[in-house]
Amino acid sequence: MTKESQPSGPDLTSGVALTQFVDGKLLGHVGEEEVLLVQDGSEIFAIAAHCTHYHGPLNEGLMVGGTIRCPWHHACFDLRSGDAVRAPALAPLDCWHVEKRDNLVFVREKRVGLIPRGKPSAGAPEKIVIVGGGAAGFAAAEMLRRREFRGSIVMLSSDSSAPVDRPNLSKDYLAGSAPEDWVPLRPDSYYNEAGIELRLNSEVVSIDTNARHVTTARGDQVAFDRLLLATGAEPVRLSIPGADQPHVRTLRSLTDCRAIIDAAKGARRALVIGASFIGLEVAASLRTRGVEVHVVAPEARPMERVFGPALGDFVRALHEEHGVVFHLEDGVTSIAAKSVALKSGGALDADLIVTGVGVRPRIALAEKAGLAIGRGVSVNEYLETSAPDIYAAGDIARWPDAYMRDRIRVEHWVVAERQGQTAALNMMGEKTPHRAVPFFWSQHYDVPINYVGHAEKWDAIEVDGDVMGRDCFVRYKSGGRTLAIASIYRDKQCLEAAAAMEREAGGHAS
Ligand SMILES: Cc1cc2nc3c(=O)[nH]c(=O)nc-3n(C[C@H](O)[C@H](O)[C@H](O)COP(=O)(O)OP(=O)(O)OC[C@H]3O[C@@H](n4cnc5c(N)ncnc54)[C@H](O)[C@@H]3O)c2cc1C
Ligand code: FES
Repeated sequence: MTKESQPSGPDLTSGVALTQFVDGKLLGHVGEEEVLLVQDGSEIFAIAAHCTHYHGPLNEGLMVGGTIRCPWHHACFDLRSGDAVRAPALAPLDCWHVEKRDNLVFVREKRVGLIPRGKPSAGAPEKIVIVGGGAAGFAAAEMLRRREFRGSIVMLSSDSSAPVDRPNLSKDYLAGSAPEDWVPLRPDSYYNEAGIELRLNSEVVSIDTNARHVTTARGDQVAFDRLLLATGAEPVRLSIPGADQPHVRTLRSLTDCRAIIDAAKGARRALVIGASFIGLEVAASLRTRGVEVHVVAPEARPMERVFGPALGDFVRALHEEHGVVFHLEDGVTSIAAKSVALKSGGALDADLIVTGVGVRPRIALAEKAGLAIGRGVSVNEYLETSAPDIYAAGDIARWPDAYMRDRIRVEHWVVAERQGQTAALNMMGEKTPHRAVPFFWSQHYDVPINYVGHAEKWDAIEVDGDVMGRDCFVRYKSGGRTLAIASIYRDKQCLEAAAAMEREAGGHAS
């Protein structure tokens, strides 16, 4: 190991004094591994210093009720066991034994076998079927096995690849800065080893709620005791002339992403239609690849509907700084092989077109099965649909949200994973309500924007800090109550706000 790559902080095996802790934490190392000491009441824990999701620095995280939360995307780890109790991290943290002697704390050998095992309950089902191989479906299957569900798990996915880290498809992987092996959520071998029967290219076309089986497009019938619907959303496709040509792309799957990467290799100018999260993340990634990018969108400011005017202006300025050219309050009326016609008149040359004009939840299957639908698949706080033993999670589910005091449906990665995890526990016979306050992040170049809560509309926006200076905490309020917050480089404050909202919502059940 070179001098530069030496882990930081003191050697924790030689002992450190409690007076060296700052805010209850001390970063050091054991051999080459960075280890974080955490004081929680009278107890001291030694855990791996980096989050198992994307390596976030846990010494900048927040401790809440025996857990530590990652500052980057709010994964939550149990301090005692290292268990990744809440997504987006799915793998546990390493933990070490700690010894206290003469006012010094010493870190000893690694601890093993700490993750609590589930107790097979009397009412546990034998066969669980999951429709969907995305965020919610994968997180559910993983949680079932983590909690030692011993029955069969069949995951039916219409995708051609095993579950992938979808947010990466518009960010590092598309930009060419993440290797291919970052994309799968688990290696292919995982599914066999975990006893999860993953059937790819398997579209479920019907559910028989009485006979309790699903049928795939190939005609296979798969019986279930409990069923999870996690069919996600699909990109809205434009219906303008020329939108069906091969150089017009949408982005949802790994296959879509590979096609955009291939097309970008020979492209001089890409046109992104829609200033959505995905559209603008695609714009940023294509700029990183050196492709000229124009964005055409109907709104006056990108993302104003979600973030308000100040952050909207910031997002625009950030992209312009990187060379993106916006055509706002405009639209595309038709697409030719090498150009598009604009609503405002005139044409724009483009050899690659990516549309990011929103998604539609894939609820047709649930609708056909007669499940209650209300702008999404209606579920109760346990994520159970109107049909007993059939659950729904992720982009399709509309649930009664305790903090919002309303039924909401959101399209966020972390929410989908956490709902998958909660549905898994409930399918095993628990009664765990979904109480996590919604969280999402979006990344543009090197600037992450974090968002907690859910504000479809507001009557006041309070900005603390300097938005253009990339240091801000923005509150979206209605009737004096904060519905949501967005932040840039205010990670600790954002974690604290999420924890406060969660307390108000009645705990952190999932
Ligand atoms: C490119 C991209 C980037 C994103 N970035 C972010 C981000 O930065 N932050 C964030 O919070 N969110 C982000 N999102 C949104 C996030 O990925 C979704 O909210 C999340 O994936 C929803 O999870 P899900 O399980 O509901 O659906 P999905 O992950 O979409 O999974 C649905 C699965 O169901 C399968 N399926 C559908 N119908 C059937 C059927 N009838 N039979 C069998 N299988 C079926 C699909 O093939 C798929 O495997 C991004 C989305 C995309 C596309
Ligand atoms: S890096 Fe920790 S949650 Fe993403």
